[in-house]
Amino acid sequence: MRSWRLASRAVAVYRATQTTGSALRPLPSTVLPSQIQNQDGVCRPMSTALLMHRDKPGNSVKDDWDFSPENTERVKEILSNYPKNYKQSASIPLLDLAQQQHGGWIPVQAMNRIAQIIGVAPIRVYEVATFYSMFNRQPVGKYHLMVCGTTPCMLCGSREIEDALLKHLGVTRGEVTKDGLFSVGEMECMGCCVNAPMIVVADYSKGSEGYSYNYYEDLTPKRVVELVQELRQGKTPKWGTQNPKRINCGPEGGNTTLLTTPKPPVCRDLDAC
Ligand code: FES
Repeated sequence: MRSWRLASRAVAVYRATQTTGSALRPLPSTVLPSQIQNQDGVCRPMSTALLMHRDKPGNSVKDDWDFSPENTERVKEILSNYPKNYKQSASIPLLDLAQQQHGGWIPVQAMNRIAQIIGVAPIRVYEVATFYSMFNRQPVGKYHLMVCGTTPCMLCGSREIEDALLKHLGVTRGEVTKDGLFSVGEMECMGCCVNAPMIVVADYSKGSEGYSYNYYEDLTPKRVVELVQELRQGKTPKWGTQNPKRINCGPEGGNTTLLTTPKPPVCRDLDAC
C-alpha cells in the first residue's frame, strides 16, 4: 500500500513539475501512472490505478447502478457481520462485491450506492476504493492478471514474467486486449514470496457467482504464456506452484527438515488445578 501511495504522490509531483524550458507543461489528465516514462522513455511503469474520476459514458453520475437481486441478499449478509452503528466497516467487502458484479471494476455510481447503503458521505467510499490497489477504477479484462512486483518476486524474474505477458498479449500495463479478455496489472507482495515469482488471476468471466482469485507460482516466461493460452480456451489451469518438483511451498525433492510429526504442545491439566 505504501508503494502505491508513493507512486501516486510521484505522479502528482510529476504532473505539477514537468517542465519544458521554464514553462509548466502539465500532463494530460488522461495519462495514467502506468504510462509515465522518464526522458529516455525507459522508466518502469508504476501503479495502474486511476487517480481521479472523469465522467464518461458507462462511468457517470447520471447512470443507474445497484446490486443485483442475488447480490442484494449478499449485501444483507455482509452487513449482518457488523454492529448496526458500524455499517461503514462493510465498505471493503461491498466494494469487492460490486467489482465482481461489474466485471472487474467499480464505476462511480457503484461507490455512491455503497455510500448510501452504509450511510456515509460518498467521499468515504471513494477514499477506500482509490487507496487499495485491488480495486479497479477503470475497465479490466475478464481475466485480470496481476504480477507481483515486490523485491523477492522481482529478484526471481517478475519483470521477465510481465514482459512476456505484455508481449504475448500485445498490450501495455493497464490496457485491455481487443477481445476484452485480458489485462495486466501490478500488485505488491501477495504473501507468496517463497514461491516467487508469482501472479494472481482475477477471473471475472463468470460474474460474482463464479468469481475466483487464484495464485500461480514458480512461474517462468514460458509457463505464464501457457497459462494465458489455457485461460483463453476456457480452462482453469491448476493453481499454486507450477514447478512439478515441488509440493505446495515445500523444497524441490521433498522436505529436508521437520521430517517427523511434531509433538503437541504441553497443555495444563486443568482438571488437576
Ligand atoms: S514478493 Fe511476490 S509474493 Fe512476496
